[in-house]
Amino acid sequence: MKIISVVGARPNFMKIAPFIKALKKFSNEKVQIQHLLVHTGQHYDVRMSEAFFRALDIPQPDINLQVGSGSHAEQLGRTMIAFEKVLLEHKPDWVVVVGDVNATLSCTVIAKRLHIKVCHIEAGLRSGDMRMPEEINRLVTDRLSDLLLTPDRLSSENLRKEGTPEEKIRFVGNIMIDTLEANKEKAQGLSIKSVIHNNIAEGTSLPTEIPLDETYALMTLHRPSNVDHEDICVPLMKFLMDEAASELPIIWPIHPRTKKQLQLFGLWGLVKGHPSLILLEPIGYHEMMRLNIGAKVMLTDSGGLQEECCVLGTPCLTLRWNTERPITLRENDGASVLVGNNVDRIRKEFFQTLSMNRQPSRPELWDGHTAQRIVEAIIESSPMVENEIQNVLK
Ligand code: UD1
Repeated sequence: MKIISVVGARPNFMKIAPFIKALKKFSNEKVQIQHLLVHTGQHYDVRMSEAFFRALDIPQPDINLQVGSGSHAEQLGRTMIAFEKVLLEHKPDWVVVVGDVNATLSCTVIAKRLHIKVCHIEAGLRSGDMRMPEEINRLVTDRLSDLLLTPDRLSSENLRKEGTPEEKIRFVGNIMIDTLEANKEKAQGLSIKSVIHNNIAEGTSLPTEIPLDETYALMTLHRPSNVDHEDICVPLMKFLMDEAASELPIIWPIHPRTKKQLQLFGLWGLVKGHPSLILLEPIGYHEMMRLNIGAKVMLTDSGGLQEECCVLGTPCLTLRWNTERPITLRENDGASVLVGNNVDRIRKEFFQTLSMNRQPSRPELWDGHTAQRIVEAIIESSPMVENEIQNVLK
């Protein structure tokens, strides 16, 4: 059996790592699986891409499409043109896509045009917000995929409501948690001080009076809905600088998109000179987990961090009005609360959250063994003769 799996942007890498390991295990012991890894090249900075390959022990991509930055149309189009050539040359039985980035959508569309089966890992998530590029990516990918592997039962239910045939849906758990479990010990062994010192953002310096062993908040921000519009981004920054950062230092690994926007709005100087904001370059997987484990509170618009906070128990303010990951919300025993980008609402929840303790929770099948269930599901859904499948799964 020949499988091509696809990654494009940072949140894909921690999802593909355990899948590739599980494939290797199955391939050696039970069945011949030929695997090729394609990187579309949407994320290309060392810190956004290569560092994750090294830290998570992901093999070098067999093919890099080098699509780079650009508008959505440019990214999608360039990926489709390049990926079509890859498929025509290698003719895989399956294309495996993960998550909801532009690579997920474009590679699914082209694979289906060439009648190749698609397996979507992390299927069924829905925010209901059609202004999010990721929501469109999720909808189209799920509509076209042959095997839809969901991280939780709510996602399976979303697919049923949309009329997805039952035999295509498999609830396998959350593959990100495989990576979290496999790397937690290593992350815990890092020192917070050295994580900070080794990753200070270019052109900034560590505010000297900050006691790094004490309580801090951790923040990430990159969604277009938060950083692309001046009328939203500016008040948010003012709240962070004038109010939140007076309560406790905020450690903030900055996404390239956000830095560009802050420069555009003339805020970069203020942000980088603030005595209680610790600005870091985009940091590695273990470094982020270490900071998460020690944080008093997380402020984020990232879906992946919402999930990691849930399992690690970090109280999390999700700076969005909706989420495709409702299982992580406090109302479902998770750690996260939706606060949108309205400053009054963020202020209220921020100060309440400071008095909360860590409360880890573990949704069903977020057990570190999702990758194995995924490989089994692919093998079971492959056109092999019945007794061959039985041998493989024995
Ligand atoms: C993408 C994903 C988003 C994911 C996020 C995580 C889509 C639609 N969005 O958004 O779901 O949460 O990645 O990071 O796929 N840039 C660099 N260096 C890089 C990569 C990007 O400087 O290595 C710059 C680009 O030039 C661009 C900006 O960052 O200006 C945004 O990058 P892009 O890949 O378009 O989208 P993200 O916002 O990262």
